[in-house]
Amino acid sequence: MTTPLIMVLNGPNLNLLGQREPEIYGTGTLDELETLCAETAEGLGVGVEFRQSNLEGELISWVHEARGRAGGLIINPAAYSHTSIALMDALLTLDIPIIEVHLSNIHRREAFRQHSYISNAADGVICGLGFAGYRLALIALSDILEEDQ
Ligand code: DQA
Repeated sequence: MTTPLIMVLNGPNLNLLGQREPEIYGTGTLDELETLCAETAEGLGVGVEFRQSNLEGELISWVHEARGRAGGLIINPAAYSHTSIALMDALLTLDIPIIEVHLSNIHRREAFRQHSYISNAADGVICGLGFAGYRLALIALSDILEEDQ
């Protein structure tokens, strides 16, 4: 049996985690978040690939790459959540479980952040729990993948 792969995709400006509005997004860096995901995945016995891009098209290409490769996908689309029908359409082509994660509670913020196109394509959404949201998403996906076996 091969180890299932979970892709973790991060959208624009998340490379600046730790420096960017720390009162909203916390002081942890993207590297620290990647380490947390790698350690969590190792404990769960799943593989993880962690990526970040500031480019919509690159994120879409990575979603295409997930087809046939990944068993599950976690995505924090950042501001593209609120704007990108193209990214939503790419995610809708996948037949693997998808969890959308936001560090902040987007429902407690500005009105323009309270709608996410990506939620139309997600099986689950976690927001407002900071880095723990990624850990919980990995646990949830690993449970789903185990049930599917
Ligand atoms: C975010 C919330 C988005 O509204 C924002 O544009 C981000 C980060 C979050 O993780 O809380 O860049 O996705």
